[in-house]
Amino acid sequence: MPRKIIIDTDPGQDDAVAILLALASPEEIEVLGITAVAGNVPLDLTEKNARIICELAGRTDTKVYAGCDVPLQRKLVTAEHVHGKTGLNGPKLPDPKMELQEKHGVDYIIDTLRDHDHGTVTLCPLGPLTNIASAFKRAPDIIEKVQEIVLMGGAYFEVGNITPAAEFNIYVDPEAAAIVFRSGAPITVMPLDVTHKALVTPARNDAFRALGTKVGVAVAEMTDFFERFDKEKYGSDGAPLHDPCVTAYLIRPELFTGRKINVEIETISDLTLGMTVADWWGVTDRHKNAMFMGDIDAQGYFDLLTERLARL
Ligand code: BDR
Ligand code: CA
Repeated sequence: MPRKIIIDTDPGQDDAVAILLALASPEEIEVLGITAVAGNVPLDLTEKNARIICELAGRTDTKVYAGCDVPLQRKLVTAEHVHGKTGLNGPKLPDPKMELQEKHGVDYIIDTLRDHDHGTVTLCPLGPLTNIASAFKRAPDIIEKVQEIVLMGGAYFEVGNITPAAEFNIYVDPEAAAIVFRSGAPITVMPLDVTHKALVTPARNDAFRALGTKVGVAVAEMTDFFERFDKEKYGSDGAPLHDPCVTAYLIRPELFTGRKINVEIETISDLTLGMTVADWWGVTDRHKNAMFMGDIDAQGYFDLLTERLARL
């Protein structure tokens, strides 16, 4: 039985690849719906980008909802410097024809969890946690119905990418992240510690392009685009492909290893706002609320991506 998931996302080229991987893997994953959130770029672009990607995958039947356009308590911080003006810079993709669903993304998350049996829906946040936290705040009854939250966000050893202390998704809405990490729902985290090992080297980029399909070429062009920024920043041989770690985990969890630990979110200090304070070494008695991944079989991950994207 495929796992039923809701993808909560702010596409973003790496979000796009995560969505494509899920849509290419119907044996393991059933995408119930996609909720867009403001993050890498504003909401009007993230919801549009989500629809562009569904059309690229040939899955115009996928339901896309627009969620929150601002963080719970703060001004939106975006990342056009990484992802480009549209969030999906790189390939030339047509404007979507498929319609946006009318329901608000947060209502969709609440209704879907209420409509499904206990422990049968997994949430996959790939952006700031505003939609998920809003749903949990408004309808706390849904928390115990969540099978698992598998999210990209945070860091321990790699510390931060948007500030010296914080990873982008958590930094943009730290209050939302704090609500989610304290919710009691089972959480699996793909932090920068993992994603910074998942580098799109030239050979891996070539493998996408060599698929010769619309999807393969678009993915190669997307990763090419944000490579320019990250390669310069990190001085590495390729840029990290963050968000598909979430959907890859649902297909091949054995690619990842980590520890069940306590993770708290800094919401007060200006200097370390949005830091994921991860008790990796077990130096506190605080409740172990998250499976925090630390390592990845990077080649296995890229092989999986290339094999699955070839199906679209
Ligand atoms: C995260 O931030 C975004 O820029 C990416 O899409 C990813 O979700 C990495 O810090
Ligand atoms: Ca993202």
